[in-house]
Amino acid sequence: MASLDIRRLEAAPGSSVDFGAEVAACDLANLDDAAFDALAAAVLTQHVVVVRGQSALTPRAQYELTRRFDPTVQTYGHGHDKELLRKSVLVQDLISLPEVPQVQLIGNGHVTDHEGVPEASLRHPSHQTFHQRPLSAAQEEQDLTRFYRWHIDAALYKLHPPKVTTLLALEVPENRQQTVLYDDGSGDTLSVPLGTTAFVSGARAFRDLTPEQRDFALRTSVRYAPHPYVWIKNARANPTGLGLVSEGKELARDALPPFKEEEIVTLPLVWVNPHTREPALQAHPCCVETLVTDGVPLDDLAESRRVLHDLMRPGIAPDKVYAHAWQPGDLVIFNNRGVWHSVVGALRSSDRRVYHQCNLASSEPPLGPVALG
Ligand SMILES: [Fe+2]
Repeated sequence: MASLDIRRLEAAPGSSVDFGAEVAACDLANLDDAAFDALAAAVLTQHVVVVRGQSALTPRAQYELTRRFDPTVQTYGHGHDKELLRKSVLVQDLISLPEVPQVQLIGNGHVTDHEGVPEASLRHPSHQTFHQRPLSAAQEEQDLTRFYRWHIDAALYKLHPPKVTTLLALEVPENRQQTVLYDDGSGDTLSVPLGTTAFVSGARAFRDLTPEQRDFALRTSVRYAPHPYVWIKNARANPTGLGLVSEGKELARDALPPFKEEEIVTLPLVWVNPHTREPALQAHPCCVETLVTDGVPLDDLAESRRVLHDLMRPGIAPDKVYAHAWQPGDLVIFNNRGVWHSVVGALRSSDRRVYHQCNLASSEPPLGPVALG
């Protein structure tokens, strides 16, 4: 087949975003090896790749494409333990498609007879249920909103983080603008399209640290709690959606589902891009239990969160955020080991949003700073 038409996304006025690419409509189910290699290289260099015109991509083809980025794996990124997911903060977000359980149906509104799902009421995750101090109804009326939760897609217990996530937009709500309030004393705001997905670059976040912070980050690992999404189910987030408020609401160890010490996940704070060797600051700030620097755990949850927040907050400054303006048929493939992302916005029940999401727990951990040589 002809080679892919891949172009850099143009940064919006006022933006300093330095990543993102767009691929013209193409047959993703039948890419030859050369075309796939070009796509894979684009994902590792541009981090967020938008392929247009994919409304007809089947769940099976989306799964096969996602798997092509990491061919030895086939488990959904959060595993398939439904009981565990039901107990966690992810419960409302994920409905597996029966025939391809690695693909999740997400969105907003009532869906019937959809890819083997007889009926589902989808709900766009709302900061109202997750932030400690949510916006008032009057503020939401004015189309003010928040980032829901900055994260990487990963179970962070037992399984390795997925390499890529694919997100296919089948139905997209009307395009009205909303304004994200950071509400952290900075005065920062960001105008975004309704129901956008926001991305920032972990490489940029690392690059923009001071030399002292970079040195600290390179010597630091993040130990995540066992079953972290169950552990935090009663905790609430900062108004930026970047990490949690420390008020003692995490579940005690004996209130968690059974776990094995050896399956607790510790990951470097800096992950090295296998294609460019560029270091990226990569962490899930909501799920951290302790930072470990030079092999020594800090063993203080509030302090671990504070230190991590200080490192990560500059990374989500408004000019560094790419807020994708979804069109029906967009398939976004993102480098889950190179970006952080967040659901954004508040949808009304009449705002229909129907998406398919797929990612796969990898067979290998991310590369740590040791790969820098
Ligand atoms: Fe996600």
